Amino acid sequence: MCTLKLAIQKNGRLSEQSLELLKTCGIRLANGDRKLRATATNFPLEVLFLRDDDIPQYVEQGVADIGILGENEVLEKARNVATLDRLSFAACRLSLAIPREESYTGLRYFNNKRIATSYPRILGAFLKEQQIVAEIEEIGGSVEIAPGIGLADGICDIVSTGSTLLMNGLKEVETILRSEAVLIATPGIGPGPAAILEQLRFRIRAVHNAATHKYILLNAPDAALAEISTLIPGMKSPTILPLAREGWSSIHSVVREDIFWEVTGQLKKAGAEGILVIPIEKMIL
Ligand code: PRP
Ligand code: ZN
Repeated sequence: MCTLKLAIQKNGRLSEQSLELLKTCGIRLANGDRKLRATATNFPLEVLFLRDDDIPQYVEQGVADIGILGENEVLEKARNVATLDRLSFAACRLSLAIPREESYTGLRYFNNKRIATSYPRILGAFLKEQQIVAEIEEIGGSVEIAPGIGLADGICDIVSTGSTLLMNGLKEVETILRSEAVLIATPGIGPGPAAILEQLRFRIRAVHNAATHKYILLNAPDAALAEISTLIPGMKSPTILPLAREGWSSIHSVVREDIFWEVTGQLKKAGAEGILVIPIEKMIL
C-alpha cells in the first residue's frame, strides 16, 4: 500500500504545532513516542522526526515526500524543493542582535564586525546587498552565547518571543527576514504519494479556513437586507430566514476574522441587531 512520508522537526519550536496540525486534520499517530518515525492509523501517512536543518535535504532526495519546517531553513539550505503552502504558525524573524550595552548607530555598525550565525547564506546575501563588509562566523547552534564568549561582536539568529536574546544580554537591532512554517515537497513526487498529498492539503485548507473565519448570525429589518448581504457575502451568499416578527429577518454568513471588527461596525450602522459570532470547526469551500 502506498503511503506519504512527512518529515517534521524532532525537537524544537515547530514540533508540537506540527503534530497539532495533523491532529486537527483528523490524523492519529500510532507509536507516537517520537523515536524516529510514527505511522498514522487512519490515514496513509508515515511521519519521520528529524532535525529541521536536515529536512530540506531529505525532501530534495525524496527520503521524505514532504516536510513541515520554518521557511527560514528552506531559504537558507536552498535545496531543490517546492514550497506549497504557508501554514500560519511558528511565526518568527531572522534578526541581527548585539550586546545590550552597545549603542547602535544603524547598519554601518556591522562594518568590520564578526557576526555569528547558522544562516550564512541569507546573512551573506543581506550584507552584500546592504554593502556591509563583515565577517560571518558560521556555527550550528547556541548562537546567542557567541558574543558573551568572545567569538563574535553580534549575532544573526531566529527570534520568536525574544526571551533567548533577553536571557543572553542581547538586543535586536535589525530584522532581515520574516518567516513561518511552510509545507514543502520533493520535486519528483510519485503519483501515489501526490494523490495522498492532495487529500492532506485539502484537510489543511479546511482547518486553516476554519481558524481564520467566524460564523455570524444577526437580525435585521428587511429594508437593510441588501446592504447587509454585500457586507457579509459569505461563501456563496448569506442565508436569509424570516423571523416570526413581521418585517425582520435572521441572516447567517461567514466572515474573515481579520476584518471582523470593521465589518461588525458597518453591520450595526446598517441596522443589524443581536449579532452572534460562533467559531467554525472545519470549513470546506
Ligand atoms: C531559535 C533560535 C533561538 C530561539 C529563539 O531556534 O535559535 O534559540 O529559537 O526563540 P525565542 O525568541 O522565543 O527565545 P529554532 O527554534 O529555530 O531551533 P534550532 O535553531 O535549534 O533548530
Ligand atoms: Zn535547526
